[in-house]
Amino acid sequence: MELSFYERIGQENIKQLIAYFYEEVKENAILRPMYPGDMEAAEQRLSMFMVQYLGGPATYSERRGHPRLRMRHMSFPIDEQARDEWLGCMRKALDKVKMDEESRNFLWKYFSQTADFLRNR
Ligand code: HEM
Repeated sequence: MELSFYERIGQENIKQLIAYFYEEVKENAILRPMYPGDMEAAEQRLSMFMVQYLGGPATYSERRGHPRLRMRHMSFPIDEQARDEWLGCMRKALDKVKMDEESRNFLWKYFSQTADFLRNR
């Protein structure tokens, strides 16, 4: 039977990816002001969301309800620059985490399409 991306990448690597991503966000002058004080909680939310999206436990929806990503991002000014900065941070994180190339390409395509979908300015 085919493995899910969750099983192929593994929970620890998904968590590591999001940890690296938030390390980049903390240093980013465009993105950092958008994020609330508690970056650890934000990191945990995105990590739970990605675990669920990739086929792992649905802990995100159990705790936060339906993702409704576009609605949850409406209060953040996401223009082309913010989208590109977010993707820039994720690209750096993605290149640091150990995973097979098909998984890395799948994630990059998903992040690129979703980041553009979340543009709201
Ligand atoms: C395009 C640029 C983006 C910007 C500027 C942005 C910004 C933010 C900010 C400021 C938060 C609040 C942090 C928190 O309190 O959790 C957030 C939450 C979140 N973002 Fe984004 N985001 C972007 C793209 C994305 C993408 C592409 C995804 C999915 C792959 C995503 C998934 C999430 C999730 C799951 C949360 C937590 C929502 C919740 O449960 O409250 N974001 N984002």
